[in-house]
Amino acid sequence: MSSPTTVHGSANHEAGTTPLPSTMTAVTARAYGGPEVLATETLDLPTPQAGELLVEVRASSLNALDWHFLTGTPYLMRLMFGVRRPKRFVRGADVAGVVVGVGTGVTRFAIGDSVFGEAPGGGCGQYLTVKETSVVAIPDGVSFEVAGATPVAGLTALQGLRTHGDVQPGERVLINGAAGGVGTMAVQIAKALGAHVTAVCSTRNVDMVRSLGADEVLDYTRDDFVDGGARFDVMLDNVGNRHPREVRSVIVTGGRYVVISGPKANRWVDPLPYLVRARLAFVRSESSFHQFTAEANADDLTFLGELLASGQLVPQVDRVIGLDGVADALAEIGSGHARAKIVVVP
Ligand SMILES: NC(=O)c1ccc[n+]([C@@H]2O[C@H](COP(=O)([O-])OP(=O)(O)OC[C@H]3O[C@@H](n4cnc5c(N)ncnc54)[C@H](OP(=O)(O)O)[C@@H]3O)[C@@H](O)[C@H]2O)c1
Repeated sequence: MSSPTTVHGSANHEAGTTPLPSTMTAVTARAYGGPEVLATETLDLPTPQAGELLVEVRASSLNALDWHFLTGTPYLMRLMFGVRRPKRFVRGADVAGVVVGVGTGVTRFAIGDSVFGEAPGGGCGQYLTVKETSVVAIPDGVSFEVAGATPVAGLTALQGLRTHGDVQPGERVLINGAAGGVGTMAVQIAKALGAHVTAVCSTRNVDMVRSLGADEVLDYTRDDFVDGGARFDVMLDNVGNRHPREVRSVIVTGGRYVVISGPKANRWVDPLPYLVRARLAFVRSESSFHQFTAEANADDLTFLGELLASGQLVPQVDRVIGLDGVADALAEIGSGHARAKIVVVP
Protein backbone atom coordinates (compact mmCIF):
# COMPACT_ATOMS: atom_id res chain seq x y z
CA MET A 1 0.00 0.00 0.00
CA SER A 2 1.67 3.18 -1.11
CA SER A 3 -0.34 6.15 0.20
CA PRO A 4 -1.80 5.69 3.70
CA THR A 5 -4.83 7.94 3.47
CA THR A 6 -8.38 7.55 4.67
CA VAL A 7 -11.32 9.08 2.86
CA HIS A 8 -14.41 10.54 4.44
CA GLY A 9 -17.61 11.17 2.53
CA SER A 10 -20.82 9.51 1.52
CA ALA A 11 -21.13 7.02 -1.32
CA ASN A 12 -19.96 8.41 -4.64
CA HIS A 13 -19.47 11.90 -3.31
CA GLU A 14 -16.20 13.72 -3.58
CA ALA A 15 -14.21 13.02 -0.47
CA GLY A 16 -11.53 14.73 1.57
CA THR A 17 -8.53 12.88 2.99
CA THR A 18 -7.06 12.52 6.46
CA PRO A 19 -4.26 10.24 7.66
CA LEU A 20 -5.18 6.65 8.47
CA PRO A 21 -5.13 5.69 12.14
CA SER A 22 -2.76 2.88 13.15
CA THR A 23 -5.38 1.03 15.20
CA MET A 24 -9.09 0.27 15.04
CA THR A 25 -11.89 -1.07 17.21
CA ALA A 26 -13.48 -4.42 16.39
CA VAL A 27 -15.78 -7.03 17.94
CA THR A 28 -13.82 -10.25 18.26
CA ALA A 29 -14.29 -13.84 19.41
CA ARG A 30 -11.06 -15.63 20.26
CA ALA A 31 -12.89 -18.80 21.31
CA TYR A 32 -16.08 -20.57 20.27
CA GLY A 33 -19.07 -20.00 22.54
CA GLY A 34 -22.09 -17.79 23.10
CA PRO A 35 -22.22 -13.99 23.10
CA GLU A 36 -20.18 -14.02 26.33
CA VAL A 37 -17.00 -14.83 24.38
CA LEU A 38 -17.31 -11.62 22.35
CA ALA A 39 -14.96 -8.76 23.22
CA THR A 40 -14.32 -5.28 21.94
CA GLU A 41 -10.63 -5.01 21.09
CA THR A 42 -8.22 -2.46 19.75
CA LEU A 43 -6.36 -4.04 16.83
CA ASP A 44 -3.70 -2.92 14.40
CA LEU A 45 -5.10 -1.83 11.07
CA PRO A 46 -4.92 -4.77 8.63
CA THR A 47 -2.67 -4.43 5.57
CA PRO A 48 -4.17 -5.28 2.17
CA GLN A 49 -2.34 -8.09 0.40
CA ALA A 50 -2.08 -8.53 -3.38
CA GLY A 51 -5.52 -8.13 -4.96
CA GLU A 52 -7.06 -6.84 -1.72
CA LEU A 53 -8.65 -3.58 -0.66
CA LEU A 54 -8.45 -1.90 2.73
CA VAL A 55 -11.99 -0.68 3.43
CA GLU A 56 -13.21 1.72 6.08
CA VAL A 57 -16.45 0.06 7.17
CA ARG A 58 -19.44 2.41 7.17
CA ALA A 59 -22.07 -0.29 7.70
CA SER A 60 -22.34 -4.02 8.11
CA SER A 61 -25.15 -6.34 9.14
CA LEU A 62 -25.48 -9.57 11.07
CA ASN A 63 -26.54 -12.92 9.69
CA ALA A 64 -27.35 -16.38 11.00
CA LEU A 65 -23.95 -17.22 9.51
CA ASP A 66 -22.31 -15.08 12.21
CA TRP A 67 -24.03 -17.15 14.89
CA HIS A 68 -22.60 -20.34 13.37
CA PHE A 69 -19.10 -18.83 13.31
CA LEU A 70 -19.50 -17.60 16.90
CA THR A 71 -20.64 -20.93 18.30
CA GLY A 72 -18.60 -23.09 15.92
CA THR A 73 -21.68 -25.14 15.10
CA PRO A 74 -22.17 -27.58 13.59
CA TYR A 75 -18.90 -28.77 15.15
CA LEU A 76 -18.02 -30.40 11.82
CA MET A 77 -17.47 -26.95 10.30
CA ARG A 78 -14.60 -26.35 12.75
CA LEU A 79 -12.48 -28.60 10.52
CA MET A 80 -12.54 -25.72 8.03
CA PHE A 81 -12.78 -22.67 10.26
CA GLY A 82 -10.50 -23.64 13.16
CA VAL A 83 -10.61 -26.77 15.29
CA ARG A 84 -9.85 -25.30 18.73
CA ARG A 85 -10.60 -21.65 18.09
CA PRO A 86 -11.80 -19.57 15.12
CA LYS A 87 -9.06 -18.77 12.61
CA ARG A 88 -10.84 -15.51 11.80
CA PHE A 89 -11.64 -13.79 15.04
CA VAL A 90 -13.32 -10.53 13.96
CA ARG A 91 -17.03 -11.22 13.55
CA GLY A 92 -19.30 -10.00 10.75
CA ALA A 93 -19.40 -10.88 7.06
CA ASP A 94 -21.23 -8.02 5.31
CA VAL A 95 -19.52 -4.78 4.39
CA ALA A 96 -20.33 -1.42 2.87
CA GLY A 97 -17.64 1.21 3.05
CA VAL A 98 -14.98 3.30 1.41
CA VAL A 99 -11.72 2.03 -0.10
CA VAL A 100 -8.87 3.63 1.83
CA GLY A 101 -6.00 1.48 0.62
CA VAL A 102 -5.17 -1.01 -2.13
CA GLY A 103 -2.78 -3.96 -2.36
CA THR A 104 -0.59 -4.65 -5.36
CA GLY A 105 -2.33 -5.72 -8.55
CA VAL A 106 -5.68 -4.12 -7.73
CA THR A 107 -7.27 -2.96 -10.96
CA ARG A 108 -10.98 -2.49 -10.34
CA PHE A 109 -11.04 0.03 -7.50
CA ALA A 110 -9.18 3.07 -6.27
CA ILE A 111 -8.98 4.96 -3.00
CA GLY A 112 -12.23 6.83 -2.42
CA ASP A 113 -14.52 4.31 -4.11
CA SER A 114 -17.61 3.17 -2.21
CA VAL A 115 -18.05 -0.61 -2.28
CA PHE A 116 -20.23 -3.33 -0.80
CA GLY A 117 -19.99 -7.09 -0.63
CA GLU A 118 -19.02 -10.07 1.44
CA ALA A 119 -16.01 -9.97 3.75
CA PRO A 120 -16.04 -12.96 6.09
CA GLY A 121 -14.28 -12.07 9.31
CA GLY A 122 -14.36 -8.30 9.49
CA GLY A 123 -17.73 -6.56 9.21
CA CYS A 124 -17.86 -5.79 12.92
CA GLY A 125 -14.68 -3.73 12.83
CA GLN A 126 -13.86 -0.22 11.71
CA TYR A 127 -11.60 -1.43 8.89
CA LEU A 128 -11.15 -4.69 7.01
CA THR A 129 -9.33 -6.13 4.06
CA VAL A 130 -11.28 -7.86 1.30
CA LYS A 131 -10.51 -9.31 -2.13
CA GLU A 132 -11.41 -6.80 -4.81
CA THR A 133 -13.42 -9.56 -6.52
CA SER A 134 -15.70 -9.91 -3.46
CA VAL A 135 -17.13 -6.38 -3.67
CA VAL A 136 -18.75 -4.11 -6.24
CA ALA A 137 -19.41 -0.37 -6.42
CA ILE A 138 -22.34 0.98 -4.41
CA PRO A 139 -24.74 2.48 -6.96
CA ASP A 140 -25.52 6.20 -6.79
CA GLY A 141 -28.28 7.00 -4.34
CA VAL A 142 -27.86 3.82 -2.26
CA SER A 143 -26.80 4.48 1.33
CA PHE A 144 -24.10 2.61 3.21
CA GLU A 145 -26.70 1.19 5.60
CA VAL A 146 -28.85 -0.16 2.78
CA ALA A 147 -25.82 -1.61 0.97
CA GLY A 148 -24.39 -3.05 4.20
CA ALA A 149 -27.67 -4.80 5.02
CA THR A 150 -27.69 -6.66 1.72
CA PRO A 151 -24.72 -8.92 0.80
CA VAL A 152 -25.01 -12.31 2.55
CA ALA A 153 -28.80 -12.41 2.84
CA GLY A 154 -29.33 -10.88 -0.61
CA LEU A 155 -26.86 -13.20 -2.35
CA THR A 156 -28.43 -16.23 -0.66
CA ALA A 157 -31.95 -15.21 -1.65
CA LEU A 158 -30.93 -14.34 -5.21
CA GLN A 159 -28.91 -17.51 -5.80
CA GLY A 160 -31.61 -19.63 -4.18
CA LEU A 161 -34.33 -18.21 -6.40
CA ARG A 162 -32.55 -17.42 -9.66
CA THR A 163 -29.48 -19.69 -9.90
CA HIS A 164 -30.88 -22.81 -8.24
CA GLY A 165 -34.65 -22.23 -8.34
CA ASP A 166 -34.61 -20.90 -11.91
CA VAL A 167 -37.72 -18.85 -11.07
CA GLN A 168 -39.61 -17.71 -14.16
CA PRO A 169 -42.19 -14.92 -14.47
CA GLY A 170 -45.63 -16.09 -13.41
CA GLU A 171 -44.39 -19.08 -11.44
CA ARG A 172 -45.71 -19.75 -7.96
CA VAL A 173 -43.01 -19.49 -5.30
CA LEU A 174 -43.29 -20.53 -1.65
CA ILE A 175 -40.87 -18.92 0.78
CA ASN A 176 -40.70 -20.70 4.13
CA GLY A 177 -39.10 -18.46 6.74
CA ALA A 178 -40.02 -15.17 5.09
CA ALA A 179 -39.40 -12.84 8.03
CA GLY A 180 -35.64 -13.27 8.52
CA GLY A 181 -32.71 -11.75 6.69
CA VAL A 182 -32.85 -14.13 3.72
CA GLY A 183 -36.65 -14.35 3.70
CA THR A 184 -37.31 -10.61 3.56
CA MET A 185 -34.87 -10.31 0.65
CA ALA A 186 -36.33 -13.39 -1.06
CA VAL A 187 -39.93 -12.11 -1.04
CA GLN A 188 -38.85 -8.94 -2.83
CA ILE A 189 -36.45 -10.65 -5.24
CA ALA A 190 -39.06 -13.26 -6.19
CA LYS A 191 -41.50 -10.42 -6.95
CA ALA A 192 -38.81 -8.65 -8.99
CA LEU A 193 -38.38 -11.90 -10.98
CA GLY A 194 -42.11 -11.80 -11.72
CA ALA A 195 -43.25 -14.64 -9.46
CA HIS A 196 -46.47 -15.07 -7.51
CA VAL A 197 -45.24 -15.27 -3.91
CA THR A 198 -46.65 -17.12 -0.92
CA ALA A 199 -44.70 -16.32 2.24
CA VAL A 200 -44.68 -18.18 5.57
CA CYS A 201 -43.93 -16.39 8.86
CA SER A 202 -45.24 -15.99 12.42
CA THR A 203 -48.11 -13.75 13.50
CA ARG A 204 -46.03 -10.74 14.52
CA ASN A 205 -44.38 -10.57 11.08
CA VAL A 206 -47.44 -10.99 8.84
CA ASP A 207 -47.95 -7.26 8.16
CA MET A 208 -44.24 -6.66 7.53
CA VAL A 209 -43.99 -9.56 5.07
CA ARG A 210 -47.18 -8.49 3.27
CA SER A 211 -45.75 -4.98 2.94
CA LEU A 212 -42.80 -6.47 1.03
CA GLY A 213 -45.16 -7.49 -1.76
CA ALA A 214 -46.03 -11.09 -0.91
CA ASP A 215 -49.25 -12.06 -2.70
CA GLU A 216 -50.26 -14.41 0.10
CA VAL A 217 -48.95 -14.66 3.65
CA LEU A 218 -49.42 -17.76 5.79
CA ASP A 219 -49.11 -17.38 9.56
CA TYR A 220 -47.52 -20.68 10.53
CA THR A 221 -49.08 -20.55 14.00
CA ARG A 222 -52.51 -20.95 12.31
CA ASP A 223 -52.04 -22.04 8.70
CA ASP A 224 -50.11 -25.04 7.39
CA PHE A 225 -48.69 -24.77 3.88
CA VAL A 226 -48.73 -28.56 3.60
CA ASP A 227 -52.45 -28.89 4.33
CA GLY A 228 -53.66 -25.89 2.33
CA GLY A 229 -53.87 -27.70 -1.02
CA ALA A 230 -51.73 -25.14 -2.88
CA ARG A 231 -48.79 -26.37 -4.96
CA PHE A 232 -45.73 -24.45 -6.03
CA ASP A 233 -43.20 -24.35 -8.86
CA VAL A 234 -40.40 -23.39 -6.49
CA MET A 235 -40.04 -23.61 -2.73
CA LEU A 236 -37.22 -21.69 -1.05
CA ASP A 237 -36.89 -23.24 2.39
CA ASN A 238 -35.03 -21.08 4.93
CA VAL A 239 -36.13 -23.26 7.85
CA GLY A 240 -36.13 -26.96 6.88
CA ASN A 241 -38.65 -27.84 9.58
CA ARG A 242 -40.92 -30.20 7.62
CA HIS A 243 -40.55 -33.82 6.64
CA PRO A 244 -39.12 -33.99 3.09
CA ARG A 245 -42.15 -36.05 1.95
CA GLU A 246 -44.46 -33.23 3.07
CA VAL A 247 -42.30 -30.74 1.19
CA ARG A 248 -42.36 -32.92 -1.94
CA SER A 249 -46.16 -33.01 -1.80
CA VAL A 250 -46.47 -29.23 -2.30
CA ILE A 251 -44.14 -29.02 -5.30
CA VAL A 252 -45.48 -29.49 -8.84
CA THR A 253 -44.01 -31.92 -11.38
CA GLY A 254 -40.90 -30.24 -12.75
CA GLY A 255 -40.75 -27.96 -9.70
CA ARG A 256 -37.69 -27.17 -7.60
CA TYR A 257 -37.10 -27.52 -3.85
CA VAL A 258 -34.29 -25.18 -2.80
CA VAL A 259 -33.21 -25.58 0.81
CA ILE A 260 -30.61 -23.61 2.77
CA SER A 261 -31.29 -24.70 6.33
CA GLY A 262 -32.56 -27.48 8.56
CA PRO A 263 -32.97 -28.53 12.20
CA LYS A 264 -30.22 -27.43 14.58
CA ALA A 265 -30.79 -29.68 17.61
CA ASN A 266 -27.65 -31.79 17.12
CA ARG A 267 -24.68 -29.46 17.49
CA TRP A 268 -22.32 -31.94 15.84
CA VAL A 269 -23.94 -32.45 12.48
CA ASP A 270 -27.24 -30.61 12.01
CA PRO A 271 -28.56 -29.70 9.49
CA LEU A 272 -26.66 -32.31 7.40
CA PRO A 273 -28.92 -35.33 8.22
CA TYR A 274 -32.01 -33.38 7.16
CA LEU A 275 -30.36 -32.33 3.91
CA VAL A 276 -29.36 -35.93 3.14
CA ARG A 277 -32.92 -37.17 3.88
CA ALA A 278 -34.38 -34.43 1.69
CA ARG A 279 -31.99 -35.20 -1.16
CA LEU A 280 -32.97 -38.90 -1.00
CA ALA A 281 -36.67 -38.02 -0.93
CA PHE A 282 -36.28 -36.29 -4.29
CA VAL A 283 -34.19 -38.99 -6.00
CA ARG A 284 -37.11 -40.62 -7.83
CA SER A 285 -39.23 -37.51 -7.83
CA GLU A 286 -40.24 -35.56 -10.92
CA SER A 287 -39.26 -32.40 -9.11
CA SER A 288 -35.68 -31.54 -8.17
CA PHE A 289 -33.70 -30.92 -4.99
CA HIS A 290 -31.18 -28.08 -4.63
CA GLN A 291 -29.00 -27.34 -1.64
CA PHE A 292 -26.20 -24.82 -1.82
CA THR A 293 -23.92 -22.48 0.06
CA ALA A 294 -24.17 -18.92 -1.18
CA GLU A 295 -21.05 -17.40 -2.66
CA ALA A 296 -20.00 -13.84 -3.37
CA ASN A 297 -19.69 -13.07 -7.03
CA ALA A 298 -19.56 -9.71 -8.73
CA ASP A 299 -22.39 -10.40 -11.19
CA ASP A 300 -24.89 -11.23 -8.45
CA LEU A 301 -23.76 -8.33 -6.25
CA THR A 302 -24.13 -5.99 -9.22
CA PHE A 303 -27.64 -7.30 -9.87
CA LEU A 304 -28.51 -6.74 -6.19
CA GLY A 305 -27.11 -3.21 -6.49
CA GLU A 306 -29.41 -2.58 -9.46
CA LEU A 307 -32.42 -3.81 -7.48
CA LEU A 308 -31.42 -1.54 -4.58
CA ALA A 309 -30.99 1.45 -6.88
CA SER A 310 -34.34 0.87 -8.59
CA GLY A 311 -36.14 0.43 -5.27
CA GLN A 312 -37.26 -3.10 -6.14
CA LEU A 313 -35.24 -4.34 -3.18
CA VAL A 314 -35.54 -2.37 0.05
CA PRO A 315 -33.75 -4.15 2.91
CA GLN A 316 -35.95 -4.28 5.98
CA VAL A 317 -33.89 -2.94 8.84
CA ASP A 318 -35.13 -3.97 12.27
CA ARG A 319 -32.64 -1.63 13.93
CA VAL A 320 -29.24 0.00 13.57
CA ILE A 321 -26.73 -0.73 16.33
CA GLY A 322 -23.15 0.13 17.22
CA LEU A 323 -20.42 -2.38 18.03
CA ASP A 324 -21.68 -2.42 21.64
CA GLY A 325 -24.98 -3.94 20.46
CA VAL A 326 -23.48 -6.90 18.57
CA ALA A 327 -23.62 -9.42 21.46
CA ASP A 328 -27.34 -8.88 22.14
CA ALA A 329 -28.13 -8.90 18.43
CA LEU A 330 -26.28 -12.19 17.86
CA ALA A 331 -28.13 -13.74 20.82
CA GLU A 332 -31.39 -12.74 19.12
CA ILE A 333 -30.27 -14.30 15.84
CA GLY A 334 -29.29 -17.44 17.75
CA SER A 335 -32.87 -17.72 19.03
CA GLY A 336 -33.99 -18.38 15.44
CA HIS A 337 -36.52 -15.55 15.52
CA ALA A 338 -34.66 -12.42 14.53
CA ARG A 339 -36.67 -10.11 12.34
CA ALA A 340 -35.27 -8.91 8.97
CA LYS A 341 -31.85 -7.26 9.20
CA ILE A 342 -29.88 -5.78 12.08
CA VAL A 343 -27.42 -3.22 10.71
CA VAL A 344 -24.13 -2.46 12.48
CA VAL A 345 -22.50 0.95 12.16
CA PRO A 346 -19.04 0.61 13.75
N1 LIG B 1 -26.83 -22.19 2.71
C1 LIG B 1 -26.48 -20.90 2.77
O1 LIG B 1 -25.65 -20.43 1.99
C2 LIG B 1 -27.12 -20.02 3.81
C3 LIG B 1 -26.94 -18.64 3.73
C4 LIG B 1 -27.60 -17.84 4.65
C5 LIG B 1 -28.37 -18.42 5.64
N2 LIG B 1 -28.47 -19.76 5.71
C6 LIG B 1 -29.33 -20.39 6.75
O2 LIG B 1 -30.65 -20.05 6.42
C7 LIG B 1 -31.41 -19.83 7.60
C8 LIG B 1 -32.08 -18.47 7.52
O3 LIG B 1 -31.07 -17.47 7.53
P1 LIG B 1 -31.44 -15.97 7.92
O4 LIG B 1 -30.19 -15.18 7.84
O5 LIG B 1 -32.63 -15.52 7.15
O6 LIG B 1 -31.86 -16.17 9.44
P2 LIG B 1 -32.58 -15.16 10.42
O7 LIG B 1 -32.44 -13.77 9.90
O8 LIG B 1 -32.10 -15.48 11.79
O9 LIG B 1 -34.14 -15.52 10.30
C9 LIG B 1 -34.67 -16.69 10.74
C10 LIG B 1 -36.18 -16.57 10.52
O10 LIG B 1 -36.74 -17.87 10.57
C11 LIG B 1 -38.09 -17.69 10.90
N3 LIG B 1 -38.66 -18.92 11.43
C12 LIG B 1 -38.30 -19.59 12.55
N4 LIG B 1 -39.08 -20.70 12.70
C13 LIG B 1 -39.94 -20.72 11.63
C14 LIG B 1 -40.95 -21.59 11.20
N5 LIG B 1 -41.29 -22.69 11.88
N6 LIG B 1 -41.60 -21.32 10.04
C15 LIG B 1 -41.29 -20.22 9.30
N7 LIG B 1 -40.35 -19.33 9.67
C16 LIG B 1 -39.67 -19.58 10.81
C17 LIG B 1 -38.12 -16.58 11.93
O11 LIG B 1 -39.33 -15.85 11.76
P3 LIG B 1 -40.47 -15.87 12.88
O12 LIG B 1 -39.93 -15.05 14.03
O13 LIG B 1 -41.62 -15.26 12.17
O14 LIG B 1 -40.67 -17.31 13.29
C18 LIG B 1 -36.89 -15.73 11.55
O15 LIG B 1 -37.28 -14.50 11.02
C19 LIG B 1 -30.45 -19.99 8.76
O16 LIG B 1 -30.59 -21.29 9.30
C20 LIG B 1 -29.08 -19.84 8.13
O17 LIG B 1 -28.09 -20.57 8.81
C21 LIG B 1 -27.88 -20.58 4.82
